Amino acid sequence: MGISNGTVTTRAAAWCALICVLWSAAGGRALAASREPVRTRRGMVASTNGVASQVGVDIMRRGGNAVDAAIAVAWALAVVHPAAGNLGGGGFMMIRRRDGHATAIDYREMAPRAATRNVYLDARGAVIKGEGGPLIGYRAAGVPGTVAGMELAFKKYASGKLTWAQLLEPARRLAANGFVVTHRLARSLRDRENAALLGRYAASRRIFLRDGRFFNEGGTLRQPELAATLARLQKGGPREFYTGRTARLIAADMKRHSGLMTLDDLRGYLAKERAPLRGSYRGYGIISMPPPSSGGAVLLEMLNILEGYELSRMNPQSSERYHLLSEAMRRAFADRAAYMGDADFVRVPVAGLIDKAYAAQRRADIDTNRASTSDTVRQGQPAGESAETTHFTVVDGAGNAVSNTYTLNGNYGSGAVAAGTGVLLNNEMDDFAARPGTPNQFGLIQSERNAVAPRKRPLSAMTPTFVLRRDGNLWFALGSPGGPTIINTVLQIISNVVDHGMTIQAAVDAPRLHHQWLPDEITYEPLGFSSDTLRALQSRGHRLTAKPRYLGDAHAILIEAGTGLRLGAGDARQGGVPIGY
Ligand code: DON
Repeated sequence: MGISNGTVTTRAAAWCALICVLWSAAGGRALAASREPVRTRRGMVASTNGVASQVGVDIMRRGGNAVDAAIAVAWALAVVHPAAGNLGGGGFMMIRRRDGHATAIDYREMAPRAATRNVYLDARGAVIKGEGGPLIGYRAAGVPGTVAGMELAFKKYASGKLTWAQLLEPARRLAANGFVVTHRLARSLRDRENAALLGRYAASRRIFLRDGRFFNEGGTLRQPELAATLARLQKGGPREFYTGRTARLIAADMKRHSGLMTLDDLRGYLAKERAPLRGSYRGYGIISMPPPSSGGAVLLEMLNILEGYELSRMNPQSSERYHLLSEAMRRAFADRAAYMGDADFVRVPVAGLIDKAYAAQRRADIDTNRASTSDTVRQGQPAGESAETTHFTVVDGAGNAVSNTYTLNGNYGSGAVAAGTGVLLNNEMDDFAARPGTPNQFGLIQSERNAVAPRKRPLSAMTPTFVLRRDGNLWFALGSPGGPTIINTVLQIISNVVDHGMTIQAAVDAPRLHHQWLPDEITYEPLGFSSDTLRALQSRGHRLTAKPRYLGDAHAILIEAGTGLRLGAGDARQGGVPIGY
């Protein structure tokens, strides 16, 4: 038909082009084929940016271990991936040494002392939406933890072969000399929402928008103030950020803009080393992040629930499997909303939530054919206690591994660069329940346990994770950005590998869906799901909403059985680049 009729052919071509564009925007990828993971013998870095991955590889070539490399990658991403890489934000670094010792470094932002329970409510008791609220501008920023987190990791777990200043040097150079603007960065800085946010603040507007003369792909982005801040950190050491000139510059700019954070808050920031959460899935060990992230606990609860079903007998893209994934997500997220917050401030029944017997109880009201409704699925009764982020994974030649997720929260955080520092400040305060029971930017409803309080850490969903082989050795390490969808991205990749035998790259590429209890709907990557599957899910009673683009940006490294090769998997959705040597 198309051959004999020119119009139809043109139309068909137009449709095809449209579908191709949508397809690549969605990042959808059929399971029938997937790229090979990148294979190398010694060290590997999988991050969202090739320049940053290369910085980490160079550090390992010079004798650094995975922790040295991770620290240098974190600094590099702060320069080349300003939407999420940061000095002005926070995150979590999971480390697993080759001897099996695993630990979690918590460098999540802390609420300034002036951030009391109702600080983000207006006179009528509603959450303030624009400037002054938890999302936009100076008042949205929590006390940044990244520098203190890298300091703790460096002091306890670096190789000792490279100095603190040497790990900062590649980033300082990238900031001083500039780097080539990628298509992705040029598009992101022109994006209407991002440009409107950054355009509000003089320093951000000048640095990232060139006062309206937008960067083009192939242009050069230089950040001299950030380079100077990195140089001060090289000279003065990590405390410089919290007590030196950088701290004074941040505090002074905060004061000028009625921010909450003071010099005292900066001086009082503490990174903490915590015991990771441990569980298992079908005999494979899982090591993940404890509170103040909900990631590890929610992930383990979902895996425990799913262990009760033979997923490996189901097609990975069947409605049967998607239904069970969604029901597990619904229940674990209901528990997240009810029980989770900063465990330094409130009681979080983590042991109860990740208990296998509790999962059996949660499984009891799952109908394998019909969707539950979130109205009727409330939190369970666990036993008492006894809008961008970025993830990268590093494994070195010796077998030490790092799984690190850090963030400014939204794209470019609060939008504000602290004047004179080049440092973009986070808007992590929105991860608190500014008003318990009212949804935040991710539509998450949370309880009193995650209410704002001075020096408290907002609840996170970041889920840096290790999966072990049955003999206890490292199998793969992974994580992702995506707000609450992070936990479900990690869940689906683990299930794709364990239950369906996918390669690590295919597991990362496979289409994803998300359920977070409320709103009561499955969101999904539009072109990753067939209309038959979607109809089948609807007929089981699920409500479905297509996501405009993609879910997550996962970066994983797997150690191949037998050969010990490092297999790096980057997420096609954002063009992630694993590099090894
Ligand atoms: O800590 C959290 O859970 C969020 N601040 C993460 C935000 C995020 O992943 C946004 N990225 N797409």
